[in-house]
Amino acid sequence: MRSTGPAHGRRSITSRHWMGNPGDRMKTDEFAKAMRRTYDLYFLGGDYGRRYPRPNAATLGFVLANGGRDAQRILDFGCGDGRYCLALLECTRAHVTAYDISASSLIALNARLSGTPFRGRVSLAGTGMSQLLHTYAAPYDVVLMLFGVLSLIGDRAARIDTLSQLRCLIAEDGRLVITVPSIARRRPVELLRHALARRLGRARPPLDEGGNIRFTREVSGKPLTFFYHLYGVRDLTDELSQAGYAVQCCEAESLLPEWCVTQSRVLGWLDRKLSRRLPAVLGYGIRIVAVPV
Ligand SMILES: C[S@@+](CC[C@H](N)C(=O)[O-])C[C@H]1O[C@@H](n2cnc3c(N)ncnc32)[C@H](O)[C@@H]1O
Repeated sequence: MRSTGPAHGRRSITSRHWMGNPGDRMKTDEFAKAMRRTYDLYFLGGDYGRRYPRPNAATLGFVLANGGRDAQRILDFGCGDGRYCLALLECTRAHVTAYDISASSLIALNARLSGTPFRGRVSLAGTGMSQLLHTYAAPYDVVLMLFGVLSLIGDRAARIDTLSQLRCLIAEDGRLVITVPSIARRRPVELLRHALARRLGRARPPLDEGGNIRFTREVSGKPLTFFYHLYGVRDLTDELSQAGYAVQCCEAESLLPEWCVTQSRVLGWLDRKLSRRLPAVLGYGIRIVAVPV
């Protein structure tokens, strides 16, 4: 399903919610190209799918309980190879727009869709944010940014800008469901190294901002460089508020790392029990539902 003109009911982008300027846009584009390269390589050989073979069951349940089950239209922003998209197609009747900057991720998702009865309920969208804003099936009942998509978008201004643009695509009574990596649990060595570089005046944008890190990991024998913004609850809530959202619910996503809970169903089940009472920031990820205000 694909609409051709501006969608009915879409929120207008006001100056209050649009924080970019031409200089920021350029930096954001360069940044997105670097992320696209990294994730293209990550998805290309199937490494991502082997590391995270299925959705985090607790997060899938959270999405379903927060509007997903009855949604008619869902946007999976930063869908990757579609582990959530496929699960949502299976357990809802929704149409899903799956958007990602990585062409390899969409190729992987397309391959996973072939042979399923779901192809007619999916739009694959990857030609850039402006296409997404003007040609797909908005307004959405639920917009997803799962497993750190927001963290990969660049500096604070770029992240707020993206959140603001997505806000314009959410229905009046719709919801945004986000999960992000927690600053209390992830990459302490890199956090320290980048904090030191900032203190010494050696950090270049976007690494001059607290919580931003860059690191290289070997994937199939090739070094891949990743950028993350690691979040605390306060800065996530604050960015959402700047972009025109109110937080409805905030909790820990899991106690164990994502690869553990998605590779082993037993560990996933155990983790679900253990993480129930965990403070949000102590989760491996932080899970939030936000609504447009
Ligand atoms: C860690 S993966 C998560 C994928 C998927 N949501 C999941 O849970 O498996 C992050 C995804 O965000 C995508 N991404 C990175 N920057 C993006 C951007 N600016 N816009 C859209 N997607 C982006 C990457 O290509 C990658 O597929």
